[in-house]
Amino acid sequence: MELYDGPTPISDDELRRRLSDKHGLICVLNDRITAGVLDAAPHLKVVANIAVGFDNIDIAAARSRNVIVTNTPDVLTNATAELTWALILSLTRRVTEGDRLVRRKGWKGWTLDFMLGTELRGKQLGIIGRGRIGRAVGEKAPAFGMDVVFAARGGRSAPDLRELSLDELLISSDVVSIHTPMTPENRHLIDRKALARMKRTAFLINTARGPIVDEEALAWALQERLIAGAALDVYEREPDVFPALLEMENVVLAPHLGSATRETRTAMIELAVKNVLAVVQGRPALTPVS
Ligand code: GLV
Repeated sequence: MELYDGPTPISDDELRRRLSDKHGLICVLNDRITAGVLDAAPHLKVVANIAVGFDNIDIAAARSRNVIVTNTPDVLTNATAELTWALILSLTRRVTEGDRLVRRKGWKGWTLDFMLGTELRGKQLGIIGRGRIGRAVGEKAPAFGMDVVFAARGGRSAPDLRELSLDELLISSDVVSIHTPMTPENRHLIDRKALARMKRTAFLINTARGPIVDEEALAWALQERLIAGAALDVYEREPDVFPALLEMENVVLAPHLGSATRETRTAMIELAVKNVLAVVQGRPALTPVS
């Protein structure tokens, strides 16, 4: 067994070199497992991603080389849903903006109309995606008195959810939260056109994958006041953030913390280890990517 615990993601060359004699790989979402990397690993049987998303792995290349890919679904659903609500509340009640003001000693004291936010009760939460995390976010909405609608491309519609087209969801929601996997079709799903469909009072939340939102278009929509604010946990080019977004008070920026609780990260690591052991010992993987 070999462990890489350097301060930055492992380089492609080093990954290839270290994989030349390995049967299993446990990796994280900023390791890019390309066809070239797989070619450098002739003995590899399993790639266990410590993440639910697996857009960092060339799934077709793995399949054609009989390498099983696994992810960590379910165990991170609640943590990611909680973080989503943390972002919704921080944004609508201006918590991070207020925190910055207090720290720079800009707060002059309580006044009736100071830093007014937006109340959630009676508003509509629009969830893009009808998977586990989107549903878990939706389940917490009644606690805040919000109505919930869903929009998802493809797949079977779910009779237990109120579903709208993406366009209808964007037009009618007060908070839009993205919970859809990163696929080539979803790249820039939220572009200038989508943002222009949203209410001027609406908020956008992204805890899914950065490239689903066109960051430049988002900065434009915020500058033009086409939407009221945004909260992001993921970015197009992590750890970089589109510079204009860094300057905006009505933008909450978290450093990809969706699953970052002790409980969840422990469960994710355990699941990845179990997946590798299962495959290497000739048993079926627990959570293979279908
Ligand atoms: C985190 O972003 C994950 O996909 O688990």
